Amino acid sequence: MLFKLLKAQLVLLATLACSSRADQDIYVDDALSSGWENWSWSSDINFAATDAPATTGTSISVNSSAWAALSLKDESIFGTAGFAGLKFDILGAKPDVSFYIQSTTDNSQSPSIALSTVADYINTTAWTTILLDFSALPPTGAPLGNGTWDRINFQGGANGAVYHLDNIELVSSIVIAPEILSAEPIASNTIAVTTQGDVDVSTLSVTLNSKAVKVTNQTSYNPVDAPSKTIWYLTLAQALAPGSLVLSSNNVSFNYTLPAVQYGSITTGNSKPISPLIYGVNFPTSASYIQNLGVTISRWGGNAVTAFNPFLSVTNAGNDWYFENRVGDDGPVDDWSAWVQGANSQAMMTVPALDWVSKDSTSYSYPKTEYPDQGAFDPYKADAGNGLFPNGSYITPSPNQANVYTPWNTSLAKTWLTSMAHPPQIVTIDNEIEIASNTHQDMHPIPIGYDEELARVLNYSIIAKASLPSVQVAAPSTCAWWYYWTSSVGFTDNAAHNNIDFLPWFLAQMKAAEKTAGQRLLDFLDIHYYYAPDTSANDAAAKALRLRMTRSLWDPSYVDESWIGTSAPQNHQPNANAVWLIPRMQQLIAQNYPGTKLSISEWSSTADTDITGGLLTADVLGIFGREGVDAATYWATPDEKGPVGLAYWLYRGYGTFFPANSVQVNLANRSEDVLGVYAGANSGGKDITVVIINKDVNPVGLYLANVPTGKYFLRHFGGDAGVAKWQTTITLTTNQYIVVPAYTSVFLQQQ
Ligand SMILES: *[C@@H]1O[C@H](CO)[C@@H](O)[C@H](O)[C@H]1NC(C)=O
Ligand SMILES: *[C@@H]1O[C@H](CO)[C@@H](O)[C@H](O)[C@H]1NC(C)=O
Ligand SMILES: *[C@@H]1O[C@H](CO)[C@@H](O)[C@H](O)[C@H]1NC(C)=O
Ligand SMILES: *[C@@H]1O[C@H](CO)[C@@H](O)[C@H](O)[C@H]1NC(C)=O
Ligand SMILES: *[C@@H]1O[C@H](CO)[C@@H](O)[C@H](O)[C@H]1NC(C)=O
Ligand SMILES: *[C@@H]1O[C@H](CO)[C@@H](O)[C@H](O)[C@H]1NC(C)=O
Ligand SMILES: *[C@@H]1O[C@H](CO)[C@@H](O)[C@H](O)[C@H]1NC(C)=O
Ligand SMILES: *[C@@H]1O[C@H](CO)[C@@H](O)[C@H](O)[C@H]1NC(C)=O
Ligand SMILES: *[C@@H]1O[C@H](CO)[C@@H](O)[C@H](O)[C@H]1NC(C)=O
Ligand SMILES: *[C@@H]1O[C@H](CO)[C@@H](O)[C@H](O)[C@H]1NC(C)=O
Ligand SMILES: *[C@@H]1O[C@H](CO)[C@@H](O)[C@H](O)[C@H]1NC(C)=O
Repeated sequence: MLFKLLKAQLVLLATLACSSRADQDIYVDDALSSGWENWSWSSDINFAATDAPATTGTSISVNSSAWAALSLKDESIFGTAGFAGLKFDILGAKPDVSFYIQSTTDNSQSPSIALSTVADYINTTAWTTILLDFSALPPTGAPLGNGTWDRINFQGGANGAVYHLDNIELVSSIVIAPEILSAEPIASNTIAVTTQGDVDVSTLSVTLNSKAVKVTNQTSYNPVDAPSKTIWYLTLAQALAPGSLVLSSNNVSFNYTLPAVQYGSITTGNSKPISPLIYGVNFPTSASYIQNLGVTISRWGGNAVTAFNPFLSVTNAGNDWYFENRVGDDGPVDDWSAWVQGANSQAMMTVPALDWVSKDSTSYSYPKTEYPDQGAFDPYKADAGNGLFPNGSYITPSPNQANVYTPWNTSLAKTWLTSMAHPPQIVTIDNEIEIASNTHQDMHPIPIGYDEELARVLNYSIIAKASLPSVQVAAPSTCAWWYYWTSSVGFTDNAAHNNIDFLPWFLAQMKAAEKTAGQRLLDFLDIHYYYAPDTSANDAAAKALRLRMTRSLWDPSYVDESWIGTSAPQNHQPNANAVWLIPRMQQLIAQNYPGTKLSISEWSSTADTDITGGLLTADVLGIFGREGVDAATYWATPDEKGPVGLAYWLYRGYGTFFPANSVQVNLANRSEDVLGVYAGANSGGKDITVVIINKDVNPVGLYLANVPTGKYFLRHFGGDAGVAKWQTTITLTTNQYIVVPAYTSVFLQQQ
């Protein structure tokens, strides 16, 4: 857990516990404390800066270039014995900085903690105190653990970071002030309360429309990985109702206006199957990750797989990282496929389809020695350049591919695929190769057009099916909206193909190829989908936009809030200012190659560490089920305990599953900008389940006719402060007023 406080409002006391060490100053005034060394890199640092606007003394000023860091090393090992946490003051214009604790003995390190995930108001007018509790580090709440810790790093992001630090110290103990963090109404007669420290929740009184309401039952849990220490469920003697709800104890109160009911119903008779493969991710971290989140399909994908050499397990990062070869991050493919499938997840594997793959783990395409005039060089490998002139245009002439690559072709692909002891269920033919002349300009500098892309998909699909007779093929894994309709060659390429937009043309060609080949060569039309609206500001307006832009997945009346919605269409599609993604793709399939399934092998929340990213993900998983997507894998690996991981947990965590069939939901008031409601049932109408995502900043109250009353398993995450997450069993006493708190996603499954 992390506490954010103003110095002046320091409510946490760092006190001395008898058995432990004293607090240890690392930096207080003018200089590092004795025993501490400056191990920083690529940064301008002044340890006696006097220019911080909000201080009278000195502080550390830091100006780090891309990925560079202020790094402080203890000459001895501070470890964790005796230290409860790290405290420091920071000042800056929301600097893009992350911190982590490291061991120079074995090079292990703590998770990297982005400042933005722990404090969102860092500014240049007032110092903010950050206190990291070693027993529960963000973002997961996992303890730092014992280690030979001796180094603390503050690392800038891709554009570097400029900020000031002061009063850096290791604190010997952290006294957690008892506090009720949130208390919120949920379901028909339950109050969910999150607390830290030693709190007596029986002091919490409940008043509904000025009348006291009795609490008839109280149960509590201490989930290890919850953002709060303890969560309580209080059962009320009467159902919640519209009006004023006050939850108050001696020094804190939570007041809500419970809104008028919104009418809706479910129609259990109207249901259709949900593909189990919509709950996928790219590169799960472990078998337990797959099992804990219920990940049904795991993809081996991304830009680096284009150059992946399966015989040597080495790859090239392309323009993601200075065109450098490296050892693949995920080991040999067959081992990966084995453990993924062993954990009950299907494997979706990318087969490279250009003419080269990485030849070793060390070469790179643009050495400074050969191309001195480049825009940027790897801060960690000064000789490796970014392949661009300082003015941003591509280095010419293109390097000789054989410097870093070895030839690749369909016979080598066959040798590899037939050798697999644990073949994947699905293969994708390469990854976003329509933009290879950019992402892999060193390997394939010529823009790829319609014909080349089709030829590569056909050649590799034929070989994949010949090598692995039961494998299914997904292609062309197109990166984004623009390239759904045209190629890197440009509109002359459309013109050369009767002005037929790319994806419909591709589908029709694959249909024709089935006739020739005597078998289907495309099982899934595979696309990547990244939301076009810009939510990077992450302020209230951006959060609201993030939460409503899920409508682009299904709603023909949702004009995209991006260039797609405002520009003249660059394609020949109907209703082209709406993305209307899933029905649009299903319609293109029906028109051009019926029977093809739809997969979305990359999509993202736009904010993996923000609660709204988690709510968006819960909304999307509901939409994928309802709209009949056949497979989907999140890009990239959601943090298991972060907001996006929580959305997977909500639907699939620890063996509790959203049902196999989607049930029709009818809402009298269409308010999908702020509300998502998804229902499901297993065969025979069993295990009726409702997931409700309240995307609004106020509670919502729903009448859901046909949702039976009785015992339910309740699971939820979110809340006003994004602190509540857990699960319990409740009795739904009525379906006429089901409350979901602000910014919260609930899962209710009939028991
Ligand atoms: C600390 O290290 C950085 C990076 O090497 C260097 O630029 C800076 O001058 C050093 N500062 C001091 C006071 O040694
Ligand atoms: C940080 O360093 C960069 C590169 O040296 C420089 O351009 C920039 O002005 C510096 N920023 C500040 C606030 O000093
Ligand atoms: C600046 O930071 C202080 C302390 O962290 C905070 O109280 C204040 O609200 C912030 N101001 C702005 C304008 O964000
Ligand atoms: C860490 O070390 C302390 C004392 O050396 C020990 O009591 C504790 O159990 C260790 N914790 C872990 C997680 O190994
Ligand atoms: C609120 O009251 C409780 C119980 O009296 C007390 O333990 C706690 O410290 C108080 N919290 C604050 C923030 O004052
Ligand atoms: C909540 O309502 C109570 C009673 O009306 C009032 O005393 C209290 O100040 C209110 N608290 C907040 C946080 O608005
Ligand atoms: C419809 O939903 C919107 C958004 O939640 C809400 O503001 C409005 O009051 C609702 N109208 C009715 C009639 O329930
Ligand atoms: C960019 O710089 C290179 C090398 O100096 C030059 O050949 C090229 O014409 C420049 N491109 C543009 C667009 O100015
Ligand atoms: C693929 O490359 C291998 C090794 O260079 C070569 O033996 C083989 O003939 C090539 N296959 C095709 C289809 O070009
Ligand atoms: C596809 O395979 C055919 C037949 O082997 C070959 O002539 C053609 O060059 C291949 N196309 C691509 C783009 O590799
Ligand atoms: C109180 O709630 C818990 C958790 O739901 C449940 O196990 C227990 O039976 C309830 N007790 C009573 C008296 O209802």
